[in-house]
Amino acid sequence: MRRAAGCKQTRLSVAIDSGGRMTMKRDDVLHGSRIEGFHRLDRGERLRQLGMAAGLSAADLTELDDAVPLTLDSAEHMIENAVGTIGLPLGVGLNFVINGRERLVPMAIEEPSVIAAASFAARVARGAGGFFAEATAPLMIAQIQLVDVADFARAGQRLQAATLELLATANAVHPNMLRRGGGARRIDVRPLPDTACGPMLVVHLIVDVGDAMGANAVNSMAEAVSPLIEELTGGVARLRILSNLADQRLARARARLPFSCLETATLHGDEVARRIEQAWAFAAADPYRAATHNKGVMNGVDAVAIATGQDWRGIEAGAHAYAARDGRYGPLTDWRVHRDALLGSIEIPLAVGIVGGNLECNPRARFSLRLLGVTSARDLAAIMAAVGLAQNFAAIRALVTDGIQRGHMALHARGLAAAAGAPDELVEHVVEQLIACGEIKLTKAREILAAAKAVA
Ligand code: MEV
Repeated sequence: MRRAAGCKQTRLSVAIDSGGRMTMKRDDVLHGSRIEGFHRLDRGERLRQLGMAAGLSAADLTELDDAVPLTLDSAEHMIENAVGTIGLPLGVGLNFVINGRERLVPMAIEEPSVIAAASFAARVARGAGGFFAEATAPLMIAQIQLVDVADFARAGQRLQAATLELLATANAVHPNMLRRGGGARRIDVRPLPDTACGPMLVVHLIVDVGDAMGANAVNSMAEAVSPLIEELTGGVARLRILSNLADQRLARARARLPFSCLETATLHGDEVARRIEQAWAFAAADPYRAATHNKGVMNGVDAVAIATGQDWRGIEAGAHAYAARDGRYGPLTDWRVHRDALLGSIEIPLAVGIVGGNLECNPRARFSLRLLGVTSARDLAAIMAAVGLAQNFAAIRALVTDGIQRGHMALHARGLAAAAGAPDELVEHVVEQLIACGEIKLTKAREILAAAKAVA
């Protein structure tokens, strides 16, 4: 039964463009992110294939060389008290087709199985047309907390009446943002009549930050408008800072997976679909499960966030706050059986940028953005939503079929074989023996290796 009827197989085809760059040849069948046997290639060959698939130059690829990581000098400029840097593996999620376009997805993560799982999910989805994803306009919220406001109603009216002046004051801080079509858009007033420290009035400044993540821009705007806000309300401004609950900046993705794409060696596709729906229902009913369900989503989202130099703590904070927006923590994704298919979707706040901030001094992030071929922050957010959905699908599919440990153990065994010092030609042997005996431990790996060397 292992086969995906209706799931198209594609092959890599390469062309040389007029500038001498190797590119994927695009014809009626999509190519580019499905690179057969990628995991079996050595690193040099993987890079060559990536270069071809994404149209990257040799100069682009050198940004991955060990000689150009984040240097201690750059670290000195980024944080205080720097004493070193720390690395994470950077891999590539394959097989992604998003809005009909092939995407090679950079993912930085230390956890085994995540990239393989995302690539597997993307392969299943590509057979059914891939993912469809979008993101709203990049609107960030800055909050200005006001205390000692005597009359909320009057303060609200005066703020509304002065909206244009407030927006102009905010925009004066970032004229370039305004020129690029962004800028402060709106003022919302939120009374908090009953906090632990008495009533407070909160003003939200809504800003279109364009292709930036926007934290610095909106924070300085909030500071710039607060004297005027104090004057208008008679209150005292305290906190002036962005909200990481970026619910005006949402990314959405969906996929329709026909039962025929869900079959396993032992289960029909409709049964797998039904079990996945049950797994989602479990998460929707139980915050204990929803937290783990969403951790699976964030495995994918964070891996892309880290690879592309985003503020992943902000993304995490926003995602989980959004998951609890109805007063109860729930799953960020939704999986339902409909007729002959499983329908999956995700909605998640994603405050991400492709310009500014740390990106300037992070060559790996620049490489990752080029590999992805993103043209805007919205584009990046939409891709990240699709990766989150894929990651979640792979996790719950594994959980409702083989269980999660099988895949994990194979990779863990590989790690142990390497840690035991197995040379390339003995790695597979050690892995197979570890899995066969069911004792996935370093001592066992050493034992198997010693035995293999003794007979070699
Ligand atoms: C492990 O990193 C993520 C999972 O626990 C997610 C899930 O349970 O859905 C497998």
